[in-house]
Amino acid sequence: MIYRHIFLVGMIVYALSLTFSSKQASAEEQPIAFSHKLHAVQNGIACQYCHLYARRSFSSGVPPVSTCIGCHGPQEQKLVKPESAEVNKMRDYWANSEPIPWVKIHDIPDFVRFPHKAHINANSDRLLDDAGSGCDIENTPRSLECRLAHFRTGGDERCQSCHGNVKQMTVVKKVDANFGKMGWCMECHLQVKGAKQRKRAGSTLDGWFNAKEMDAKREVAIGLINEKGYHNPNMLDCYTCHY
Ligand code: HEC
Ligand code: HEC
Ligand code: HEC
Ligand code: HEC
Ligand code: HEC
Repeated sequence: MIYRHIFLVGMIVYALSLTFSSKQASAEEQPIAFSHKLHAVQNGIACQYCHLYARRSFSSGVPPVSTCIGCHGPQEQKLVKPESAEVNKMRDYWANSEPIPWVKIHDIPDFVRFPHKAHINANSDRLLDDAGSGCDIENTPRSLECRLAHFRTGGDERCQSCHGNVKQMTVVKKVDANFGKMGWCMECHLQVKGAKQRKRAGSTLDGWFNAKEMDAKREVAIGLINEKGYHNPNMLDCYTCHY
């Protein structure tokens, strides 16, 4: 009996600590309780309305306060959610001309080159033809196959390939434990056409003499040359990702 009580008390303390720590975490993590779910689903705002640099530059970046003000209005002209304490915090940053000190969640070391724009603009045809076809979204939503399927769809759904279903998040979190690790990048780069094939001269005497021509033909055949006639970067070469 006594054990049962200890067990129960333990469970209650445990449950309390859970609700407590999760509340503290969300309040502490970010300076303002900004919810993607509320903005992206309930109010249908497109990802790239706020993250407008994703397709144009190296980093996606978080929106400047002016983007928030556009809808919520400054202190003197409170538009959407005039009484909200959380929104008022944002209006104060605006009044003081200060950026909101958002905490960065997805981060990779500075010696790695990760251009968002190349990923957002990449043609889906760059992936191997069957990449993503084995996605079982119900049971393994974060499998490589499903990440490839999201990537293939393109548009804002492509974000989900690497960041998960941000639309449903009240607090942004990393969904893949190995996010941003070298193997995590490579896994997908191996599914890009031409990635596994290396440049090589022909192995026959004829090929040897006509190596240049053979190479050119072969490179087109395996998708190493893009529609503009330029070489695609080799997806696995160290210098593609490292300076
Ligand atoms: C395109 C318009 C739009 C933009 C841009 C926008 N919001 Fe909102 N926001 C809304 C709407 C609409 C609601 C009200 C949602 C509801 O209650 O259904 C809202 C609600 C909120 C809330 C919840 C308020 C509460 O107390 O319930 C916060 C906090 C918030 N926004 C912060 C921000 C911040 C910070 C930014 C800038 C990064 C921002 N919003 C950008 C439209 C916008
Ligand atoms: C109303 C503006 C707004 C919209 C719409 C919006 N975001 Fe955000 N996003 C923000 C702000 C502000 C932050 C920084 C605060 C945070 O992490 O919640 C952020 C953070 C993020 C982060 C984490 C950044 C980091 O630090 O690693 C990701 C990933 C992200 N957004 C993806 C998306 C995706 C995908 C969509 C579309 C489903 C989307 N966002 C729609 C404003 C927006
Ligand atoms: C191929 C994977 C991939 C895709 C697709 C992708 N991201 Fe990212 N994202 C990353 C990585 C990796 C980082 C960390 C970059 C760093 O630290 O330099 C990141 C960082 C971010 C950040 C934090 C701020 C920054 O720029 O570092 C935001 C916001 C973000 N992504 C939003 C988006 C949105 C919105 C989309 C879709 C339009 C998107 N991402 C698509 C991999 C991806
Ligand atoms: C879900 C798939 C996917 C993931 C994950 C991914 N990439 Fe890529 N990456 C691509 C595709 C597709 C291309 C574009 C291929 C093309 O169009 O030539 C690309 C291109 C690149 C390029 C070359 C851009 C250029 O044209 O100069 C770099 C650099 C790169 N990725 C770095 C990274 C790094 C670093 C990571 C991990 C943090 C990563 N990628 C994760 C799919 C991915
Ligand atoms: C597709 C992109 C990509 C390619 C190609 C790539 N790397 Fe990396 N590399 C990364 C990323 C991302 C990290 C950071 C991983 C982390 O934070 O743990 C990394 C980290 C490293 C590190 C540091 C490891 C550590 O523990 O600090 C070394 C060394 C390295 N790479 C060497 C190489 C070499 C050698 C090659 C070529 C054979 C290569 N990389 C090709 C993306 C890449």
